[in-house]
Amino acid sequence: MTEYISIQDALTKGTGKVSIRGWVHRERGSAKLKFIVLRDSTQIIQCVLKRDTFPEWEEIDKLQVESSLQLTGELKKDDRATTGYELLVESYEVVGTSDKYPITKDQSKESLADKRHLYLRSRKMTSMMKIRSTVFGAIDEYFKTAGFYEYHSPIFQSVQCEGGSDLFSVDYFGKKDVFLAQTWQLYAEPAIFALEKIYTISPSFRAEKSKTSRHLTEYWHAEMEMAWCKFEDIQSHGEKLLKHIVKAVLDKHKPELEILGRDITKLEPTVKKPFVRMTYTEALKILKEKCDMDIPWGKDLRTIEEEKLTELYDVPIICTHYPKQVKAFYMTEDPEDPRTVQGCDFLAPEGHGEIIGGSQREHDIEKIKQRLIEDDEKPEEYDFYLDTRRYGSVPHGGFGLGVERVIRWICGLDTIKDAIPFPRTMERYKP
Ligand code: 4AD
Ligand code: MG
Repeated sequence: MTEYISIQDALTKGTGKVSIRGWVHRERGSAKLKFIVLRDSTQIIQCVLKRDTFPEWEEIDKLQVESSLQLTGELKKDDRATTGYELLVESYEVVGTSDKYPITKDQSKESLADKRHLYLRSRKMTSMMKIRSTVFGAIDEYFKTAGFYEYHSPIFQSVQCEGGSDLFSVDYFGKKDVFLAQTWQLYAEPAIFALEKIYTISPSFRAEKSKTSRHLTEYWHAEMEMAWCKFEDIQSHGEKLLKHIVKAVLDKHKPELEILGRDITKLEPTVKKPFVRMTYTEALKILKEKCDMDIPWGKDLRTIEEEKLTELYDVPIICTHYPKQVKAFYMTEDPEDPRTVQGCDFLAPEGHGEIIGGSQREHDIEKIKQRLIEDDEKPEEYDFYLDTRRYGSVPHGGFGLGVERVIRWICGLDTIKDAIPFPRTMERYKP
């Protein structure tokens, strides 16, 4: 039986006879020679087939982009080849043919989106997906090492948490009050009384009618919740988590970041330097002084303001103490300024904006009920949640990190849509 090695292993080996398999990434031919750049999940390599060697030349001559092949041949160093080596092919097998591959060099965004299932094979998407895999692993590793239990909340939920306007309702056997999860939070808080420190990575859904480069309707949400914590602990876990993720990607994925054209010097400060901390009120002052943007106190920061603010620093900003009215009902009032809450947004540099949202949770049950009423919600529907404040309540808090927002920032992608294999947006749910 032939033993196949990866293209990367073949390149590392550098000489001798090897068998490799993969897909035709590029091809060109003449009367006597066929050059094939073969791709597998690890690398690409130039392969050459000579007409003299193969009497069945017609089959080789017809080989097109994305045919799958198994090749055996002799490696030799060749500085002209993209990855430094060439395989002189001695035998081959066409495993799957390919005819007129629909993705060629010049493609509109729209047609690439229609052919997303094929576009995944591009070097750009492959690199993103490798980084994505490492990001998920790094999140897991960070929380497990810090003593958090992995915990799972339901996706079908009966209450809102982040505002009712962007809920997806589901026809649940004719029942109308069932929604897809926006966050695990209201089902995570009850579990800290059992496990104390918990985390998850799970899909969240937002029916946001915004066609922006940072909104998906389905995204992956890494969330944590912990008992006995102070507001500062939430911020410090968020900072350490982001440093851990970025370091893991830099350690492992310099080649992929290069394929994506990412300037990695822009990411290094995040690993090395402390994050910038400021309150919402200080942020308004900076925006006024340095960006000539005058925002009345009490208004939420918009995308444009987050962009301008984050362009001023080379590390993420932890912005805290937003006005109560722009944040969710569960955030605790700041004892020193009850107009504000102990909530924090982490804003990524280079204009990327919010990647984490978190807070210390309100413990006063009457205040929670009041805030729910102000949001036109019925407190009795939240009775299960309010039990967390009735039986042995403790100071606690948590945050949620938008995984695709973090991937977009790390990879330097124009749009969040390229941070997930099959993006779901207001306009697109196919293929
Ligand atoms: O700020 P958000 O709405 O906070 C919560 O859901 C909290 N319950 C989390 C918690 O404390 N457990 O969302 C958290 C993060 C945002 O900072 C953002 O990174 C991401 O989720 N996010 C989105 N990512 C992609 N597309 C969207 N439409 C997103 N909406 C939020
Ligand atoms: Mg938020």
